[in-house]
Amino acid sequence: MSDWREEWREANRASWDERVPIHVSGEFYDVASFKAGQERLQPFEIAEVGDVSGKDLLHLQCHFGIDTLSWARRGASVTGLDFSAPAIETARQLASELGLEATFVHSDVYDAVEATGGRTFDVVYTGRGAIVWLPDIWRWARVVADLIRPGGSLYLTEFHPFTEVFGDEDLSVEHDYFQDENPRVWDEPGTYADFDAETSNNLTYEWNHTLGNVVSAISSAGLNIELLHEFDYTKFQRWPFLEKSGFDTYRLPEGTPSLPLMYSLRARKA
Ligand SMILES: C[S@@+](CC[C@H](N)C(=O)[O-])C[C@H]1O[C@@H](n2cnc3c(N)ncnc32)[C@H](O)[C@@H]1O
Repeated sequence: MSDWREEWREANRASWDERVPIHVSGEFYDVASFKAGQERLQPFEIAEVGDVSGKDLLHLQCHFGIDTLSWARRGASVTGLDFSAPAIETARQLASELGLEATFVHSDVYDAVEATGGRTFDVVYTGRGAIVWLPDIWRWARVVADLIRPGGSLYLTEFHPFTEVFGDEDLSVEHDYFQDENPRVWDEPGTYADFDAETSNNLTYEWNHTLGNVVSAISSAGLNIELLHEFDYTKFQRWPFLEKSGFDTYRLPEGTPSLPLMYSLRARKA
């Protein structure tokens, strides 16, 4: 029987590599509007991260860089890191096309300290579907803490792990909330950005890190949690019945009992 410990990284990377061009040319990321100046960051992120002008910001798992470059537009000196070579290549091209100053590093997140040459940052920004790809949240939190300079902060915004107990069609409870070290293994074509896209690298390994474990891991790594907010909306069509309100905001229909769909967390190094 195959061992996920040897396979998770290569399988996930192959899946992401194949999805980069689909995302770059699709409607979901709407790169043309981004190039024309559209804001990609959520208002709550902008408010909670605060003024970034002149600050060194590291975006972990930056995908093809449009959120990273959104922070650059706000005056941050940005570095993006991702383990997908096509993602990093596209991010570099986008930065150069837009004349934005940015560094993009090709690396696994667990090797980020070495890959960024031991630098530290004022802000480490990550999330929106990032930590679900990582087997060990405790190790991730230690890496993040090592990347932050004294007085700097981690800002994480993620899809709420509670949403993962439900199936994809309705709110019937189909999965455990709590998970041991073994991944959830999926073998599904398409992507959240285009459910009908034809893809061949479909095997992925994912871990649903509970809110309790995320908070505990960050705290154990020596960071002080300053805020933890939960939101009743999300950024993609998690279920067919979510209603789109605004460019990338999806909500439960009016009258439906509210559920936590996303959360944000800020933690600071003393
Ligand atoms: C959903 S995207 C991140 C969300 C991003 N904010 C966005 O919506 O564009 C997840 C990213 O994590 C990257 N990734 C997954 N596992 C990784 C790992 N172990 N090290 C570095 N990057 C990883 C993938 O290549 C992908 O670009």
